[in-house]
Amino acid sequence: MGLGLAWLVAATALLVAQPTLLSLPHPHPQVVALTHAWVLGFFVTVACGAVYQLAPVALGTTLCNERHGWWHFGLHAVGVPGMVYSFWRWDLRLLGHFGFAVALGIVLFAVNTWRTVRHSGRRGTVAWSLTLAAGWLMTTVLVGLLLAANRYWNFIPIDPVALLRAHAHLGLVGFFFTLLQGVGFQLVPMFTLGEVRDWRLANLGLGLSQAGLLALAPALVWHFAPLGLLAALAITAGMICSGVGLRRALATRKKRALDPGTRSFLRGGVGVCAAAIAGVVLVSPGSPWGSAPGGFGAMVYAILGLAAGLLPCIAGMMCKIVPFLTWMRAYGPRVGRGPTPSAGALTHPRIERWGLALQGIAVAPLLVGAWTLSEPWLQVGAWLLAVGVALFVTDMLGVLKHLWAVPALAPATKPGGAR
Ligand code: HEM
Repeated sequence: MGLGLAWLVAATALLVAQPTLLSLPHPHPQVVALTHAWVLGFFVTVACGAVYQLAPVALGTTLCNERHGWWHFGLHAVGVPGMVYSFWRWDLRLLGHFGFAVALGIVLFAVNTWRTVRHSGRRGTVAWSLTLAAGWLMTTVLVGLLLAANRYWNFIPIDPVALLRAHAHLGLVGFFFTLLQGVGFQLVPMFTLGEVRDWRLANLGLGLSQAGLLALAPALVWHFAPLGLLAALAITAGMICSGVGLRRALATRKKRALDPGTRSFLRGGVGVCAAAIAGVVLVSPGSPWGSAPGGFGAMVYAILGLAAGLLPCIAGMMCKIVPFLTWMRAYGPRVGRGPTPSAGALTHPRIERWGLALQGIAVAPLLVGAWTLSEPWLQVGAWLLAVGVALFVTDMLGVLKHLWAVPALAPATKPGGAR
């Protein structure tokens, strides 16, 4: 979570320094660098951290191999900055080296996740989503390495932008949305004291988006527009099914008022569905829109998916799990041995609310700026996002501070007063 927060700051700073990157064609090397700073630096780091902590809780087991988790952390911490630098300079040789380190870390992560799920003996939507998401992430990074090699040696006789689109969707839909479609059903009821009474919609949603993605990747690579449309419709239908299922689970909640983190997570779900609908329009046969900058196109679609969808989902999720995990570590051992605050009391709700709200508001000027290729709008969007991120990071650091700020526990006193 700490490394993810550092990347959130770095990726936002990059956008503030160069907001006009969003008005360039998206395969431009510096746009690809910015994309990976956000995607691999912030989103993947936080999502993997969350899986390491929450998968064992959700599955009622322990992580199969903690040492491999630390290896993954080290490889990721070194590899991702190297990758972003290599993309920025378009140094494909260096990209291959750093990309290999990142891919190795992700392979360790995937194997660890699969073994943890297998040892738990659990089946069901959450276990499947963890298994599938880890598989898609591993596929994405291996395809990413292939793309880098192909840019260097030029051995695949296929349009590189088509390959890029397939790689991007494997990562974004395959890893993140698959994860959210499962873990959402674990986290939202857990934090709102609700329950999932019927798993059919959750299963249908997950199944539809998996089937859709399996068809979308080849459709994008070989430009089969009708298959692409069918696949995009299946993915969108899958997301809507998961959304309706989650809404039903929320209706059972005992905590009536929703906190800012849960609201943000749900707002992100709406953003993801909006991006999916934009994707359906883009992939429709005869669609005049594509990778060119300006107007409705790939950049607007990407901002919808990442800034209006994934960012509020992941930031909202962090607002819940960072206090929860910090509390478990800092105060869990003190329960029954002295006063402990509640997990919710570790955050600053007003700072959190404003941080998340400004991040949401920033999406509008970013979209207008990318659509009209207007630098002032992009600057306004980037600065609003930066203020939102600064408040959010302040809140998160305030929570993490409890890991160090809690006075050490006095040794337990034995009956009779002896220590
Ligand atoms: C070892 C890890 C990775 C490597 C080596 C890698 C490599 C690449 C390369 C070479 C491109 C540009 C392709 C081209 O211009 O021909 C690219 C684009 C892209 N990658 Fe990755 N990638 C990796 C991981 C990921 C992950 C995990 C995700 C998402 C979860 C991701 C998302 C994207 C996206 C969205 C683009 C399109 C960027 C744009 O159009 O501006 N990548 N990647």
